[in-house]
Amino acid sequence: MLKGKTIIVGVTGGIAAYKACEVVSRLKKLNADVWVVMTREAAQLVGPLTFRTLSGNSVISDLFANELSSLPVPHITLAKKADLILIAPCTANVIGKIAHGIADDALTTTVMASTAKKIIAPAMNCEMWRNPIVTKNVDELRVAGCEFIGPVEGRLACGDDDVGRMAEPGEIVAQVLSSTVAQQDLKDKRILVTAGGTREAIDPVRYITNHSSGKMGYALAQVARERGADVTLISAPTNLSAPLDIKPIRVQSAEEMLEAVLAHYDQTDVVIMAAAVADYRPKIKDQKSKIKGKVDINLKLKPTKDILKTVAKQKDRVEKVLVGFALETEDLIKNAKKKLKEKDLDLIVANGPETFDGDKIKFSLIDKKGKVKKFPQQTKNQAAQTILDRLVATM
Ligand SMILES: Cc1cc2nc3c(=O)[nH]c(=O)nc-3n(C[C@H](O)[C@H](O)[C@H](O)COP(=O)(O)O)c2cc1C
Repeated sequence: MLKGKTIIVGVTGGIAAYKACEVVSRLKKLNADVWVVMTREAAQLVGPLTFRTLSGNSVISDLFANELSSLPVPHITLAKKADLILIAPCTANVIGKIAHGIADDALTTTVMASTAKKIIAPAMNCEMWRNPIVTKNVDELRVAGCEFIGPVEGRLACGDDDVGRMAEPGEIVAQVLSSTVAQQDLKDKRILVTAGGTREAIDPVRYITNHSSGKMGYALAQVARERGADVTLISAPTNLSAPLDIKPIRVQSAEEMLEAVLAHYDQTDVVIMAAAVADYRPKIKDQKSKIKGKVDINLKLKPTKDILKTVAKQKDRVEKVLVGFALETEDLIKNAKKKLKEKDLDLIVANGPETFDGDKIKFSLIDKKGKVKKFPQQTKNQAAQTILDRLVATM
């Protein structure tokens, strides 16, 4: 199941390091290419030779002892080739180091140099886990996109029965599997996603637009594709490269976007309108407007046709799932609920303007019954997973 996937297993100086042997062994049985990177303290608890034997690859535990590894610059080579970094067990110390950008050994340097997804399985004494500094560090890492598994309650090495035990190897491997191998829960679903901010021409050289980057729509398209959906991405102008395996249909204006949506609507099960579509457009002039001195000018704007409302009125509406976005600067939930109702949507993603252009988004999901679920700030990729999870539950 993990054939072709490179997984770095970071092992740190916790007594649960011996359980990492089973994690490595199970990942190997699933055909992953496993590389173990240990801290110096972890190597005091379990010998690197054990991990070398279980993983079939050299073990990196000393940043400067390159001659021990077959890789040119081991920490960078591994950081680049990793599909996922799992740290199990992860000490309070390494959590703190990663949260604060410290890279002073092979493991923390590899983590910092890698853009791969990270799963952390903390294990420590209960008071260490409850320490507010550790809590703060964990929160920061969650916001930065790290996934956590455990710790769980049980008998600790110090003798206490409390929280702090590393999650069981089987559960850790299950989380690695679900994070690495995208579930195909959208297989055979035809999903239409719109993205970007439309451009409304004033004359042949000028236009009005908005701050939408298109990142949320592109993330939704990419994640839906990875989860097996047949994706049509209708994109207003953005600076983004096309998601893997998707050829966006490029449009400029709200009118062009509506035409493209209607042209594909029949072959669609789900419409996700993540695009920031202009509500108004100017009456286009045939020639470039001449500037006549420094005087105010009036730009007359006409309303554009509402794409979601138009789509919601189509005859086979009940067979389709419609998802909208509400970006509001005030009364977010109230206004989003109003939009959900007016446009007869199944789900709406409500968010503020602060994340318009960024890589992260803080949002709430509101379903048809008006039930609101708030989510902490997360990357747009994670948000896409969350939104699609909710969508799957709706279908
Ligand atoms: C026997 C033993 C067990 C330990 N277990 C843990 C543990 O489970 N979790 C933890 O955060 N620290 C534990 N520590 C303390 C860490 O080893 C210590 O903080 C060390 O500096 C961590 O180094 P590392 O994070 O670079 O691996 C333990 C120490 C010893 C001696």
